[in-house]
Amino acid sequence: MLTKLLPANVATAESTTDPADVFLYPEEEFLIRNAVPKRRLEFGTVRWCARRAMGMLGLPPAPVVPGRRGAPQWAPSVVGSMTHCAGFRGVALAHSAEFASVGVDAEPNAPMPEGVLDSIALPQELLHVRELEEAASGVAWDRLLFSIKEAVYKTWFPLTGQELDFTDALVSVDPDEQTFRARLLPDPETLSPAGPTAFSGRWSAENGVLLSAIAVPAARLATAGAPVRRSAPRICRAGSAF
Ligand SMILES: CC(C)(COP(=O)(O)OP(=O)(O)OC[C@H]1O[C@@H](n2cnc3c(N)ncnc32)[C@H](O)[C@@H]1OP(=O)(O)O)[C@@H](O)C(=O)NCCC(=O)NCCS
Repeated sequence: MLTKLLPANVATAESTTDPADVFLYPEEEFLIRNAVPKRRLEFGTVRWCARRAMGMLGLPPAPVVPGRRGAPQWAPSVVGSMTHCAGFRGVALAHSAEFASVGVDAEPNAPMPEGVLDSIALPQELLHVRELEEAASGVAWDRLLFSIKEAVYKTWFPLTGQELDFTDALVSVDPDEQTFRARLLPDPETLSPAGPTAFSGRWSAENGVLLSAIAVPAARLATAGAPVRRSAPRICRAGSAF
């Protein structure tokens, strides 16, 4: 499912089940030594997917351990993103010569718990979600908004090391084209110049799973030029997932 959402030169691997024979490197095993079975399964299967994606790019298998704030650490020659939710684990990986960053997120296609939308959405986004709900059923538009914001964060953070609050990105969804756009709202002077301030991506709703995916071509960042920054980058408060 991820492959349809990303350019052909982004390697994707995914699974809807947890294989019994997943191999973990000792440093990965150490990280989940006390984890509950659900966490062990998602952790192991998504890394099994990551190794398959590495193979597609001609790389040898390698451990994937979290770095700062949980962002996965990849070999310098690649950029990537991992996601897991009930019934889905997926990875997108690309050569860093071709892509500056990728971000993927999976969520169950079901409405969010009462009150969560209000805490993650801007006023314009609340209206947008309401319009989408009136126009088309079959997609949990509130959850899709959440997923897109998570994909933005997973794309942004590895590039910049800077956190974003959920209300730092304004998202609009095209329900017909199954695309989206997101724009970072903070003053550009407070944002790291290492990342883009606007993102575009694709989404899907299939088999009970919502997917959001973004790939930022390396050429796009190289030609965009860094904004002049007169003050230190603002490190925004990290929102929390539920
Ligand atoms: C980090 C976060 C985005 C993960 O999303 P999630 O829906 O909870 O979980 P997913 O299963 O989709 O993704 C988990 C994977 O994300 C990756 N991840 C974790 N922290 C990350 C970070 N800072 N940057 C990039 N990727 C990260 C990891 O690979 C992780 O897998 P692992 O724990 O097995 O190593 C989320 O927990 C979070 O902190 N969100 C708040 C910040 C945010 O989204 N702000 C919105 C800005 S518009």
